[in-house]
This record gives sequence, structure tokens and C-alpha cells, in this order.
Amino acid sequence: MTKSVYVGMSADLVHPGHLNVLKEAAKLGSVTVGLLTDEAIASYKRVPFMEFEQRREVIENIKGVDNVIAQTTLDYVPNLEQLKPDYVVHGDDWKTGVQQKTRQRVIDCLAQWGGELVEVPYTKGISSTKLHQAMKEVGTTPEIRLKSLKRLLAAKPQVRFLDIHNALSGLIIENTRIETESGVKEFDGMWASSLTDSTAKGKPDIEAVDVSSRMSTLNEVLEVTTKPIIYDADTGGKTEHFTFTVKTLERLGVSAVIIEDKTGLKKNSLFGTEVAQTQDSIENFSQKIAAGKRAQATNDFMIIARIESLILGKGVDDAIERAKAFLEAGADGIMIHSREKTPDEIFEFCDRYATFENKKTLIAVPSSYNSVYESELEARGVNVVIYANQLLRSAYPAMCNTAESILRHSRSAEVDSKMMPIKQILELIPGGK
Ligand code: SPV
Ligand code: MG
Repeated sequence: MTKSVYVGMSADLVHPGHLNVLKEAAKLGSVTVGLLTDEAIASYKRVPFMEFEQRREVIENIKGVDNVIAQTTLDYVPNLEQLKPDYVVHGDDWKTGVQQKTRQRVIDCLAQWGGELVEVPYTKGISSTKLHQAMKEVGTTPEIRLKSLKRLLAAKPQVRFLDIHNALSGLIIENTRIETESGVKEFDGMWASSLTDSTAKGKPDIEAVDVSSRMSTLNEVLEVTTKPIIYDADTGGKTEHFTFTVKTLERLGVSAVIIEDKTGLKKNSLFGTEVAQTQDSIENFSQKIAAGKRAQATNDFMIIARIESLILGKGVDDAIERAKAFLEAGADGIMIHSREKTPDEIFEFCDRYATFENKKTLIAVPSSYNSVYESELEARGVNVVIYANQLLRSAYPAMCNTAESILRHSRSAEVDSKMMPIKQILELIPGGK
């Protein structure tokens, strides 16, 4: 009787290594590919370039593949228990790294019915990681970047964004990654903060840096990165002007804009009630959201309503009323902001928001309540965590310290150990030599 063979794969950037695994699998019997869903892949590494159905189409048409089914978790066990295959075939590269545990579970599971794990030697010189790096160097297109936020949100329960204020900060977000037991961790995208962009330009955060200047910062960042961007449009300005901002952002490939329900001269939210700040009426702000939605050209661009009730001491009831109204007006999500030291009022808002039938993407910005863990926010339904200003706030004291040290010692030697070596700064950006 024909033996059954199971091969789990992501099959995003299909290369000869994949074909080799499938060829070896086909020698053993009838091959079922368990194609990892976007969610399964995103649970331990980046979201794939191709969507599930595109990847299915590719893999279905490869010689030796008899059947393709979805594998909805990184863990093979649920599919294996259902199919009880005679063999599982995999590249031998998973003996180390994040997939070690997954591998052991496969071996233990197969043992129940005498199945066997067959490991094919890793094909040298090619890997998805290398291909991914090469694709990053080629860059992205506005359309792909714009869509990438919705894809991320569909594939992950929560994503994390960090502030940009110039191209270099964008590169840090693009490239910083750490290896953890459960996979690679990195930032999912960039927050085009009005506070940090204004501060970097030596201006207060009062919408004094005009949209053209903000777009010029964005362009700098877009040129050297591929990750999605959420743009902080402050109040959005006049409704008639906001519609142009929406079109501009979409054209650039920005994924989402957030506007806050304030009116008049905008002051930074973290001042709270220490400064005069006026909240917009529900009616006006709803109209602004609706006008923005009408102005956008694609279905993928998102307009998020930011609620300032907690910042202005109006309480959770007011915030909830506004959230309902703004979602009805067409907002694609809600950002709830707070300047409390603890996340209590945010948690209360989240718990009540979770009961909404028409709830959409929920965003939190834990700047003042910074002891909260991402996992605690995730448990309460927060889909996007924005670290809104931490990159700029860490750069500035370091630079002040250097400036003071040079003054104090009349030379730079004393502060040398705190700085990046000259060779490293020369080589930080490839192509300078
Ligand atoms: C920003 O980063 O510009 C923000 C967040 O809007 S906050 O500064 O907290 O208002
Ligand atoms: Mg801002």
C-alpha cells in the first residue's frame, strides 16, 4: 500500500531547498503538504510575502505534491493526529533554533503509530532568510507597504510600532531584531510621531511643522525602509485639508493615519489639563472621519480615531461614547490615550470596548503607564502597541552627555567609549566605500 508522507512548509520564497525536500518526500509515498497559514508563520517569524492562497497555488503545482492542506499552528501535532502519516519529511536545519521543540513534538507524536521523521540535509548556499534579505535590499512598493499593515493585523493578535523622526531612526526599526526562545522578535512598523518629528526640527508639538515638512521626513524614511507606517496627523487640521493629507499618505504607501479629537491650537497630550486643550464635538469629528474615508482611493488605507477624553479628564464613559460614534462614522480603529502612571483607566476602556459588536483595531500608547507589558495589553484586546517617542528620548540625552563631556575635558577622549567607533559609523550604511 502507498505510504503517506506529510511535509509542513511556509513555501513563501520557494527555492531549490524546498524542491529537494519535496523530491525526497515523494520517493517515500503520497505527499500531503501542510501549508502554514499566515498566522502560523507570524507566530514565530515575519509575515510571508505571499498570501496563503498564492502560496497554495504555487505549492499545488509542484511535481510530487498530491495534496495541500492548511497547517494553522507552528505545531504539527493537530494535523499529524488527524492524518497519522507514515512519514514526516523536513530539512535537517530545524535541529537547532526556534523549531527544536516543534521537531521533538513531531517525533513524539509519530511514535504513537510507529511513524518516522525523515530529515533531508539542508541545501547549502540558499535559504529564505538570505532571499528575504535580498528582497529587503531591493525595497518595496507603495502598494505593498500600504497593504502590509492590514496583513499584519490579520496574522497577529498584536503588533508593535516605534517612533521615527528621520531615516536613521527608520533603519533602526527596520533592522533591530533579537532571537528569543519563541522566535525572532522585531518591530512591525514605524510610528510617524508628530512629537518626535517636531522636536527633531526644534519646534514645539503644536502642528507648527507643516504637512509638507512632515512628508519630507516621511520620504526620507520611505526611501530606506520597507515596514508599514502609521502617521500621526495630529487633529488632521481642517476637514477640507485633511482629505488632501489622506490622498498624499496613500500615494506614498503609508498604511494608516491617526487623527485626534481635539480642535483649535493642538498641544501635546502628555501635558493633559496643564494646558488649555479643547476636544472636538462628536459631530464635527465624525464628519472629519467620514470625509477622510470618502477621500481615500484604496480599500487598504486605514483612518484611526484617537480619543482624548482620558487625557482631558472627561472619563471612560465619554471615551466609550466617542468610540461608538467614531466607529459608526467609518473609523477603521480607535486609539485610546492616557497620561496616567498606571494602565487602570486604559484597561477599563479596553474591557468595555471589547463588548462592542462593531469593534475594530484598538491602539494603545503606553508612554506614561510604561510598566505595562505588551501581553497584558494583548489580553485586553489591544492590537497595536505604539512606543511613541522612546527612540528620540534615548538619543537626546546621549548627545547632550557627549557635548558636555567635550566642554568639560576640552577633548573627546573621555566620552569615546560611549560612542560608536569611527569604523563602525563609516560602515553602518552600506555603499559608502
Ligand atoms: C506623538 O508621538 O506625537 C503622539 C503621542 O501624538 S503623544 O506625544 O503621547 O501625544
Ligand atoms: Mg502627536
